[in-house]
Amino acid sequence: MANDRTASLTGDPSAALSPSEILLEARELRKSYRRGGGVFSNSAKGPRFTAVDGVTLAVKGGETFAVVGESGCGKTTLARMLLRLIEPDSGSLRFEGRDLLRLSGSALRAERRQMQMVFQDPFASLDPRMRVGEIVGEPLAIHHAELRQTEKQERTAAILERVGLGADALKRYPHEFSGGQRQRIGIARALILRPKLVVADEPVSALDVSVGAQVLLLLKELQTEFGLTYLFISHSLPVVAQVATRIAVMRAGRFVEVGLADQVLQEPKDAYTRELLGAVPALPCRWSGS
Ligand SMILES: Nc1ncnc2c1ncn2[C@@H]1O[C@H](COP(=O)(O)OP(=O)(O)OP(=O)(O)O)[C@@H](O)[C@H]1O
Ligand SMILES: [Mg+2]
Repeated sequence: MANDRTASLTGDPSAALSPSEILLEARELRKSYRRGGGVFSNSAKGPRFTAVDGVTLAVKGGETFAVVGESGCGKTTLARMLLRLIEPDSGSLRFEGRDLLRLSGSALRAERRQMQMVFQDPFASLDPRMRVGEIVGEPLAIHHAELRQTEKQERTAAILERVGLGADALKRYPHEFSGGQRQRIGIARALILRPKLVVADEPVSALDVSVGAQVLLLLKELQTEFGLTYLFISHSLPVVAQVATRIAVMRAGRFVEVGLADQVLQEPKDAYTRELLGAVPALPCRWSGS
């Protein structure tokens, strides 16, 4: 029974997952917005549309669970709900079995340390007035105020070096770096607390293909090194094909297909997945071991 339930969540009928293998589990998550609702709209009771419409998923520890779908299908809304940055209208959410939607205050902050986000736009997501050392070290200052200043500086320099930036980056400002370097700064900031889960929302879509490929390689290395679990969001099947262990195809707020990456890419079950695949000229080879 338990395995049937897990299989339906993971899209992998052969996976006999025990609950302890599941890092993040969401059931029937929903979020709707007021249509045309803006600051100047007074249509408080106007019609609503559903951005995320009953999404159920389970992310296994150590895997890369990819969500792929066209612009506007609800990927970012889903990601933000999974990290509880926005509240779902309904549904349930568990991290390592703990009910995230019931937590608040210090208990919620403790969970947030374990879950970090890497954003799409490396230009907009870094505060231009802060030095890179402050940007990357800020999570330590917030969550580990007890650490000595030198310890914080050492950890900041170490993670910057690990993502490929030298110690001279500490004193510089984001505008002094290229797009790829800025994304590395964003990754360093996300990893400095050693989270278990990283939600990467279109981490390479603002970058040139070759720069993006290097960032994907870095993410892959860091995953192995730090034992990370990724929820990886992209509108691009060729990108997803390079990193995913499992793929969920999202359309208009729903998952239309979830399965092991090879199965979804090579034997898609859903017509929409086939349509997306049909729009891709040729998929690149996947990395071995992914
Ligand atoms: N705060 C909000 N208020 C009203 N509508 C919103 C809000 N946030 C998102 N939406 C709408 O919800 C839908 C899903 O948006 P979302 O950003 O989740 O899509 P997405 O798949 O991430 O798109 P993209 O690939 O362009 O990033 C869109 O129609 C969007 O306009
Ligand atoms: Mg988005």
